[in-house]
Amino acid sequence: MAKAKTFYVCTECGGIQPKWMGKCPECGSWNTLTESIEEASPASPRGAGSVRSGAYAPAATHTLEEIDSKEEHRYTTGMGELNRVLGGGIVPGSVILLSGDPGIGKSTLLLQICQTISNNASILYISGEESLRQIKLRATRLGVLTNNLHLGATTNIEAVVEAIHQKKPDIVMVDSIQTMNLAALNSSSGSVSQVRECTQLLINAAKTLEIPVFIVGHVNKDGAIAGPKVMEHMVDAVLYFEGERNLSYRILRSIKNRYGSTNEIGVFEMLENGLHEVKNPSMAMLEGRPSNVSGTCVACVMEGSRPILAEVQALVSKTGFGNPRRMSTGFDFNRTALLLAVLEKRCGYFFGNLDAYINVVGGFRLDEPAADLPVALALASNLTDRVIADDIVAFGEIGLAGEIRMVNRISIRVKEAQRLGFRRCVLPQQCISTLDFEPEIQLIGVSSLPQAIHTILG
Ligand code: TYD
Ligand code: MG
Repeated sequence: MAKAKTFYVCTECGGIQPKWMGKCPECGSWNTLTESIEEASPASPRGAGSVRSGAYAPAATHTLEEIDSKEEHRYTTGMGELNRVLGGGIVPGSVILLSGDPGIGKSTLLLQICQTISNNASILYISGEESLRQIKLRATRLGVLTNNLHLGATTNIEAVVEAIHQKKPDIVMVDSIQTMNLAALNSSSGSVSQVRECTQLLINAAKTLEIPVFIVGHVNKDGAIAGPKVMEHMVDAVLYFEGERNLSYRILRSIKNRYGSTNEIGVFEMLENGLHEVKNPSMAMLEGRPSNVSGTCVACVMEGSRPILAEVQALVSKTGFGNPRRMSTGFDFNRTALLLAVLEKRCGYFFGNLDAYINVVGGFRLDEPAADLPVALALASNLTDRVIADDIVAFGEIGLAGEIRMVNRISIRVKEAQRLGFRRCVLPQQCISTLDFEPEIQLIGVSSLPQAIHTILG
């Protein structure tokens, strides 16, 4: 008998290695390779060998014209923020992966949208984590009272697929994929092969019956269970729920969507009676802004198609001993180092014996280069202890020569600043001519960082 082949699978990215290593060479995660023994997969029997012509019926093909392409009906979730991230609603037959850290609010979000969806669709909600009683308690707390919601507590994926085929619900929710188990596989729930096969079975059911399926996937740090990366390539849409555990704001980000645009975000707030939409995130992010202190500046960044204003704070203080500390929360660490270098070289400020801290208020992450200018202004403001007026918004990318570079979507950003009552907007000089409306807000065009600092801080 042939010896069973052993190999090592990364629980983070699913990469396969012939021997054990401390670090996965594919995704760079540490200590995530786990031993696995090759087993025949029921969904894809191995050993098919070569294909002889004439042995099989050919796959059916169609021209574009023959395929029906009328706009798909989408189920609305009753939450504008979630609909936006999904690209307008839930497409029949689509498989949506909802992932995020444990406790971030994935189960809460799914249970909450059941109320609206159940007005015109039946839902099958399978939980492998909570008992029916626990789900009912939570549903009552969230105000979900509907008879169109069918709950099941099981971890047997074959039973789940059978229930989908027999009950034919309009929407299926599976919480979570790491608890589901296919008996034919020897590995335990949550292993890479279990997660893959269970996801594949759900995808097959979704595609054959045209039923949308939500799958919850936990992000885990310790590598004991397979992460959502393992199934990202299989599903139609991947939504990430992120946010600081101790802050109430939650951001839902779409990182893959076959039926809509990616990079869209939805903003929610977790309160004692569930998640609430934040329709005006800029206003929420700017709440409680201090006035008349140095080291704070309001930035305007684009999140998908939406402009968001957020406050950037900087604090520069004398280093106690040893090397100066640099810390940044909500802004790229390396970008902070780069901006400090530009401030030193091009503007003559010296940070060599100073600690520098950057914080974006509200748990928001500014990943766009347009946040460079407000961060640099906040640093210069705190270093020189001169206040940036609180009616100013700034955005612009900073180059290594200290130049302020163009960014896109100028009109939308300026409109958002205007809408929130700001009176002055600092932006790259070249951008002013691309504006397609007559602004009421005063535009201050700048072309270099020294010029921007001189204009704003005097
Ligand atoms: P949950 O949806 O269980 O997280 P996940 O499914 O992503 O693991 O969310 C649990 C957290 O949300 C928990 O820390 C408590 C909090 N929460 C509220 O603050 N208000 C609520 O109404 C609910 C249901 C949960
Ligand atoms: Mg949960």
